[in-house]
Amino acid sequence: MGDNVLETSDLTIRFGGLTAIDHLNLYVNKGEAVGLIGPNGAGKTTAFNMISGIYKPTKGHIIFQGEDITGMPANEVCKKGIGRTFQVVKPFGGMTVLENVMVGGFAHTRKTSESSKIAKEVLHLVELDKIANRKAKDLTLPQRKRLEIAKALATKPKLILLDEVLAGLNPTEIEEAILLIRKINDTNVSVLMIEHVLQAIMAICSRIYVLDYGKLIATGSPDEVTKNPDVIKAYLGDDYEAT
Ligand SMILES: Nc1ncnc2c1ncn2[C@@H]1O[C@H](COP(=O)(O)OP(=O)(O)OP(=O)(O)O)[C@@H](O)[C@H]1O
Ligand SMILES: [Mg+2]
Repeated sequence: MGDNVLETSDLTIRFGGLTAIDHLNLYVNKGEAVGLIGPNGAGKTTAFNMISGIYKPTKGHIIFQGEDITGMPANEVCKKGIGRTFQVVKPFGGMTVLENVMVGGFAHTRKTSESSKIAKEVLHLVELDKIANRKAKDLTLPQRKRLEIAKALATKPKLILLDEVLAGLNPTEIEEAILLIRKINDTNVSVLMIEHVLQAIMAICSRIYVLDYGKLIATGSPDEVTKNPDVIKAYLGDDYEAT
């Protein structure tokens, strides 16, 4: 499939006796936004850790833009064009917002001026430009989440992996973050996002994959997936009603 930016085939990882991801097959088309959902401990972050080169798969393959990147170290995967955010945000607290984002920019250049230029563009996009000189440790949670996205964007990804970037945000902040993710997706960056805020997944993603105990239990449009009895049983609960 020439239109895939990402494809995993039989992707599997075991930690001792635990198979955290079990023969995962998924793909993301160029320009698409795709959701990855499932209960706590289902293996979502572990899948991201394999795709971004932090964990080496026990088995299976990761194909990015037609190239097999299985087992490639994280810094090389980043240079190839996969950016990611971390579920637990960890900015360099003593550094400014701008400096934090410049770290991402150095994935593409050694020149400080060039990295600073990239960082400023990204900060404008995520609307943190007004607080570029603030220390990262002084940011509010929604600002930290945006900084995390900015750091990933500064690596100029073709595909961005977002790991629960909406967690802890209030409804207004969620609405704003949805607009931001759409805006990023509109700049031709494909999106694969892990999220428990279903409303956001529904608003952003054309397709969803559902993981449970390391296995895919459903895939399809948001509408199909949220009506799937297996998904309701494993994750959404009987009280869930699609809005
Ligand atoms: N390095 C590791 N060593 C051993 N077990 C691990 C490791 N990383 C993840 N696991 C296990 O793999 C399983 C999946 O964890 P993971 O963090 O991927 O879940 P998740 O779907 O992201 O959950 P959450 O929604 O809570 O973030 C868990 O049982 C976890 O304890
Ligand atoms: Mg996780």
